[in-house]
Amino acid sequence: MVTLQLASCTSDAWIEQARQHIDLILLDHANCEKKAAGNALSLLFRYPAHDRLVEALSPLAREELQHFERVHRHLQRLGIPVKPLSAAPYASRLNQQLRRSEPEHLLDALLLAAIIEARSHERLGLLALHAPDPELQQFYRWLTAAEERHVQLYLDLALAHFPTDQVQERLNTLLQVETEILSTLHPEPRVHS
Ligand SMILES: [Fe+2]
Ligand SMILES: [Fe+2]
Repeated sequence: MVTLQLASCTSDAWIEQARQHIDLILLDHANCEKKAAGNALSLLFRYPAHDRLVEALSPLAREELQHFERVHRHLQRLGIPVKPLSAAPYASRLNQQLRRSEPEHLLDALLLAAIIEARSHERLGLLALHAPDPELQQFYRWLTAAEERHVQLYLDLALAHFPTDQVQERLNTLLQVETEILSTLHPEPRVHS
C-alpha cells in the first residue's frame, strides 16, 4: 500500500505571511486552479490512449475550473483587483525532475501532480483555520476535501501503470526534493512558496 506523506510541514512563518497578504494568496490560488486544470488537460493530450487516465483526468480538469470560478468570485467579493502575478519557483523547480523518456515521464508527471495536490491540501487546510475572513475559511474547508481526493486520484493512476516498488521509490525521492524547495521561505507569499 502506497500513501503520500509530505516530508515536511508548513512553517508558522508561511501562515503569518499568508494571513497578512491574503490578497496575493487568493490571486495566486486562482492561478493554481487554472494550472491544475491545464496540467490535467496536457496529460489528456499527451496520453490519449490511456483510457483510465482519460476517464479520471477529464472530469478533474472540469472540477479544477469550477474551483477557479469560486476563487474568482471571492476575489470579486473582496474587491481584490485581478493583476498578473509572478509564480514562485516551486513548480518550475519540481518540473526539473521530470524525466524526458517514457514511461518514466508519465510516472514523474503523475507523482509530481500528486505531491502538488498534497501540498495544496495541507496549505488550504491551514487557510481554512487562519484566513482572516469567515467566508474564506468556509470555502477552504470545502476545498481541502476535494484536493485530498485528487492526491489519491493521481497516486492510483501511477499505481495502475507502474509496479508498487517503483512508485514508492520515485515518490520518496520527489518528496525529498519538494521539501528541499520549500525549505527557504520565498519573500513573496504564494500558495506554494
Ligand atoms: Fe482545485
Ligand atoms: Fe486539485
